[in-house]
Amino acid sequence: MNMYNDIVMDHFMNPRNVGEMKEPDGIGIYGSPTCGDLMQIHIKIEDDVITDAKFKAYGCGSAIASSSMATTLIIGLKVEEALKLTNGEIVDKLEGLPEAKIHCSVLADMAIKKAIFDYAESNDKHYDALKGFDPYEMQEEEHVCICGKDEES
Ligand code: FES
Repeated sequence: MNMYNDIVMDHFMNPRNVGEMKEPDGIGIYGSPTCGDLMQIHIKIEDDVITDAKFKAYGCGSAIASSSMATTLIIGLKVEEALKLTNGEIVDKLEGLPEAKIHCSVLADMAIKKAIFDYAESNDKHYDALKGFDPYEMQEEEHVCICGKDEES
């Protein structure tokens, strides 16, 4: 039996919004130095609305499916709304990931927040949801990857 449902497989095999932009308004890169999985998100923002998002991923199928789904969810959202998106909601929209793969959705969630943080910093914008957000401090704490390398010892 396939461990992934049809929605996850569809976003993995046909990921939406893959690529990067020439002049993004915000760039977010988030990854696990432990396993090497890495997510990059570019966003375009006009009048405080995310008008486009593109991602590139070096990661497992769950990370790719999560990022694909996440970009489709944030396009059209106001920045404050996009900041409320959680990895749990991404997983819900995918109608579930195997328990051991839930953490992979954190890559997209955090890369989006970092992209918005980058936009806010360069445009002197302030969002309540970013208060206390430290993109550097959270890098290793939130994403504990189990793609193998962590378990070998
Ligand atoms: S992101 Fe899925 S195993 Fe590392």
